[in-house]
Amino acid sequence: MPVAPVRRIAFVNEKGGTGKTTLAVHVAAWIARVRKLRVLLMDLDTQGHAGKTLGLDVREIQPNVFHFLTDPAVSLEQVLQRTEVEGLTVVPAYKQMAGLAAALGDTPSAAERLRERLDAASPEHDVVVLDGPPSLGLSVTSMLVAATEVVVPVALTYLALDGCAEVARTVERVAEEHHRPELRVTAVVPMMHRRTALAEAVRERLEAYFPGRVTPPLGVNVAIDEAQSHGKTVWDYAPRSRGAQMMTAVAEAVWTLGETP
Ligand SMILES: Nc1ncnc2c1ncn2[C@@H]1O[C@H](COP(=O)(O)OP(=O)(O)OP(=O)(O)O)[C@@H](O)[C@H]1O
Ligand SMILES: [Mg+2]
Repeated sequence: MPVAPVRRIAFVNEKGGTGKTTLAVHVAAWIARVRKLRVLLMDLDTQGHAGKTLGLDVREIQPNVFHFLTDPAVSLEQVLQRTEVEGLTVVPAYKQMAGLAAALGDTPSAAERLRERLDAASPEHDVVVLDGPPSLGLSVTSMLVAATEVVVPVALTYLALDGCAEVARTVERVAEEHHRPELRVTAVVPMMHRRTALAEAVRERLEAYFPGRVTPPLGVNVAIDEAQSHGKTVWDYAPRSRGAQMMTAVAEAVWTLGETP
């Protein structure tokens, strides 16, 4: 049987707090659980939230993603951490990532490093999920160069539309500069959804801008937030909650849209 190419899904938005980490962690866990694939969740954010929300003490874990990217002697196996979700492993990040550009140089070839290292190592995994910081620096450029698909979580507020268009432009620029013609935004996820006229208007604008690419919305649900404080996914923490239901629908849509040409 031919081996399917590794999907690499990057969660990107330069705006902070739009739910990138929440979504990256849950989509990764959903793929491992439901699709029974081997998933690598890689964090590139100094905050280290992807590992933290899965219960890891990221302050204590070294080597981490920074060492993997800056030291060729550090292998992927050395930076992998198991999680309670079967099939899901995590490469945590922490504050060292603030020094990535200083360590690698902020050049086009530095932004290729993540892709090169994953190309060499990721046959061990079927899917790589990438979570990054709320900015457009070297970490995010590296994620985009390495990615095969880009998912944008967007809060349904007026200014968020602007941020979303900005991400789309960045994706186009990186695709051109790094010769990745296939790179594109595959899914846009309306986050923190409330039933207001403005939220609905913003959702319609998103649909016009990204036709067929907007997933069902993820409404605000306290179980999603609480689950993270317990180091669990919402499906483990509160499987019958509305949050768990909404998260399933979103994860499934992100997965399916990534397969849609
Ligand atoms: N649907 C939701 N319902 C309730 N709380 C949510 C929901 N989605 C995200 N949150 C909470 O909102 C906060 C911000 O989410 P998250 O950390 O995922 O955003 P982010 O985009 O990764 O932030 P940053 O830009 O700092 O990396 C978190 O405390 C998270 O638990
Ligand atoms: Mg985050």
